[in-house]
Amino acid sequence: MSFATARHDFRDKPQGYAELARELKALLLGESDLIANAANTCALIFEALPEVNWAGFYFLKAGELVVGPFQGRPACVRIALGRGVCGTAAAERRTILVPDVHQFPGHIACDSASRSEIVVPLILRGELFGVLDLDSPRPGRFDAADARGLESLAAQFLAAAAPGAR
Ligand code: SME
Repeated sequence: MSFATARHDFRDKPQGYAELARELKALLLGESDLIANAANTCALIFEALPEVNWAGFYFLKAGELVVGPFQGRPACVRIALGRGVCGTAAAERRTILVPDVHQFPGHIACDSASRSEIVVPLILRGELFGVLDLDSPRPGRFDAADARGLESLAAQFLAAAAPGAR
């Protein structure tokens, strides 16, 4: 099992995520286009993080989650709030770590290789905006350090999408 990628060594996760945050800052600098920034954010995450087979966004549209830019296999397009890991994280507005997707009631399987998952809700000006979703082929791939790191990257993405917003 390798924790090293081309540019990052995620054996020290806080350090790996701090490096990634610096790269994301440069990537988003001066750009507010949502699709462009979402595409580059998930491409950066997918390329940098070891043992990840899907990384991407779902955005809230007309009351349901609709898939946005992502890296990985084609995914299910629409997810109702409260359904699956994504819909649960969105409805409960909290990051959800799933060590074993087979044990999560209602998990929506997009890639049969996925064994663990983390979903970070995106909240903009107090409103649900969407979610950032990552899958891994390794059970238990994500932990609290991943949650903190990905929440921080998601906040950077939101700040670029809506300059001046908190
Ligand atoms: N597994 C997710 C669906 C999205 S895919 O993993 C890309 C879920 O249960 O919500």
